[in-house]
Amino acid sequence: MRESVRLAELTTLRVGGPATVAECATTESLVATVRALDAAEIPVLLLAGGSNLLIGDEGFDGVVVAVRTEGVEIGADGVVAEAGANWDTVVAATVAAGLGGLECLSGIPGSAGATPVQNVGAYGVEVERLLRRVRLFDRATGEIRWVAPGELGFGYRTSVLKHRADAMVLAVDYALDPGGSSAPLRYGELAVALGATNGESRPAAEVRAAVLRLRAGKGMVLDPADHDTWSAGSFFTNPVVPEARVREVRAAITAHVGEVTIPTYPAPDGVKFSAGWLIERAGFAKGFPGPSASARLSTKHTLALTNRGGATAADLVSLARTVRDGVAERFGIRMEPEPVTVGVTL
Ligand code: EPU
Repeated sequence: MRESVRLAELTTLRVGGPATVAECATTESLVATVRALDAAEIPVLLLAGGSNLLIGDEGFDGVVVAVRTEGVEIGADGVVAEAGANWDTVVAATVAAGLGGLECLSGIPGSAGATPVQNVGAYGVEVERLLRRVRLFDRATGEIRWVAPGELGFGYRTSVLKHRADAMVLAVDYALDPGGSSAPLRYGELAVALGATNGESRPAAEVRAAVLRLRAGKGMVLDPADHDTWSAGSFFTNPVVPEARVREVRAAITAHVGEVTIPTYPAPDGVKFSAGWLIERAGFAKGFPGPSASARLSTKHTLALTNRGGATAADLVSLARTVRDGVAERFGIRMEPEPVTVGVTL
């Protein structure tokens, strides 16, 4: 236990006020600590990689439980990782072991245990496709069990585990291809980078290298020396507009920016628009509002809000509101934040 820790030290956005932090390096201590805090009715905030969190400047009045379990076991056709294992370390280890499947999810900051919570995805692959099971600790009943993906209600950047804290991920188990082939390449930009046709597979190591290059080009690989990467990844999810409203939204966009090709993607319950594109066309250029601001959009990707070093949570919230409201006013689309907010609301 450490007292008065600045949570900014534990988050990739590098904001967040003080709290007491309990570091748990084994699953046993993690479960025992949370059980004890729950019994004493002390509020708990779970934190692992800190890469999808926007914590307010007041900090957290309770105990932050830092998940530091790091065990990774690579098998013949999959990998089991404890919740606190660094995700990209897990991906790299599977690719190095000749297992295919996770390579498109290379370079994503954060921990293995967080991946099922919001069905992490990138470059055409979402974790629900490879997930074999998740080990959950039910804080209400005390029960610990492996749960099948079918019980987790996965959707785009969501699952039944998001925005609730009673079910805690202890470990994840992914099924992988022992042949070492990548998942079929379905993301245009990645397929082009590899000279592959849609649906083709390539050696996992080749795909991992290409994904890392693409992500770095967008400032989406954390680099402590580069403030352009001090972010929580995409700050908004790509908005899905119900079919009945699509015409109206398209008309609003055309009225504002003229006749252009609007990037959209099919979604189960409507049409998915590209948040980065909407932000830029609404008038918020890369780097907005400019070099003197401590919180600004990444200079490489409008969907990443970045801390240039001295930003507070309030600065980031204010920037997020400006961008969200600007897009809503111009195009009639309300974007939802992707990171979990603690002690702040947009
Ligand atoms: N675009 C712009 N300006 C920008 C950035 C993007 O106009 O500054 C437009 C372009 O038209 C581009 C399109 O947006 O073609 C899509 O951009 P990109 O391929 O970078 O994808 P994204 O929608 O911005 C999503 C995920 C990322 C994931 C990438 C790659 C969400 C919210 N974000 O980003 O996930 O890595 O696709 O698959 O779904 C994350 O969730 O934190 C995250 C980084």
